[in-house]
Amino acid sequence: MTKDIQRVALLGLGTMGAGIAQLVAQSGHEVTVLETDQARIDAGTAFLRRFLDAGIARGKLTEAGRDEILGRVHGVTDPSGLTGAELVIEAVTERREVKRELLAAVADAVGPEALIVTNTSALSVTDLATAVPRPERFAGLHFFNPAPLMKVIEIVRALQTDEAVIERLVVFVGALGKDPVVVKDRPGFLVNRLLIPYLNDVVQAYDDELASAEDIDTAVRLGLGHKQGPLELIDMIGLDVHEHATSRAYEATLDPAFAPPPLLRQMVAAGRLGNKSGHGFRTEKH
Ligand SMILES: NC(=O)c1ccc[n+]([C@@H]2O[C@H](COP(=O)([O-])OP(=O)(O)OC[C@H]3O[C@@H](n4cnc5c(N)ncnc54)[C@H](O)[C@@H]3O)[C@@H](O)[C@H]2O)c1
Repeated sequence: MTKDIQRVALLGLGTMGAGIAQLVAQSGHEVTVLETDQARIDAGTAFLRRFLDAGIARGKLTEAGRDEILGRVHGVTDPSGLTGAELVIEAVTERREVKRELLAAVADAVGPEALIVTNTSALSVTDLATAVPRPERFAGLHFFNPAPLMKVIEIVRALQTDEAVIERLVVFVGALGKDPVVVKDRPGFLVNRLLIPYLNDVVQAYDDELASAEDIDTAVRLGLGHKQGPLELIDMIGLDVHEHATSRAYEATLDPAFAPPPLLRQMVAAGRLGNKSGHGFRTEKH
């Protein structure tokens, strides 16, 4: 079957970019990645290679398969190298001005026919759409981390997005072997809209001494059937990352469900960021 979208441009080869590059390349698309410099392309490619090597060690992939996937990923450092892309996936640093400036330059390079999507978690897709000349061809494509393993992708409909664009993205997500969920452009989209208030409640329950951190996680794992306890999950996400996400959602909505709990703010201020700092809710007692 001929794919609707064959050539993909990816902006950024960081944590998300490396996973997205792998996912898109392993489903048979050519991916051209734009990064700020060659060193970052090399670092991102090395990360991608290690991920694929781990797949070989687990018997999920052959060496030839790995080389084929890596052979479909091409790095460039100038937007002019993205000409010919049918779809652009933006996954650069979560800063509005950085994204807007880059999106405008890339839209110019790829031309009016390309679809452009952003992987932002916390910025408004509707606002980012105004950075490109054809906002009706712009949407959100929200991958979860790690992109090759997580089974769902949110397709975010901005106020300006054409329905035909959403339909093409649904087909593209299917071609990646993932399940699409189409969602409105509202803070948190769908999954984080549900997750963030829940994690805030858990932190408050812990601060209120309803139970120990370990017991809260055990109760949720065994009582609700979740794979992971919520405090282990915040430690993994990073307390600073969660605080940033909930604060931005709170500013945008003034919904008290998004108000960052006082203990969360204090732990971030104290540098207790979870697994990455070795000190969070479950990584050490405090
Ligand atoms: N990390 C997550 O769990 C996660 C999950 C879903 C969505 N997101 C979103 O994905 C995006 C990227 O997040 P990340 O965690 O991969 O960040 P990251 O910091 O790991 O990677 C960002 C990359 O963007 C590159 N970059 C910055 N400016 C650039 C430019 N002008 N041109 C080309 N490349 C540029 C940087 O060099 C870096 O490699 C953000 O919008 C974030 O909100 C992250």
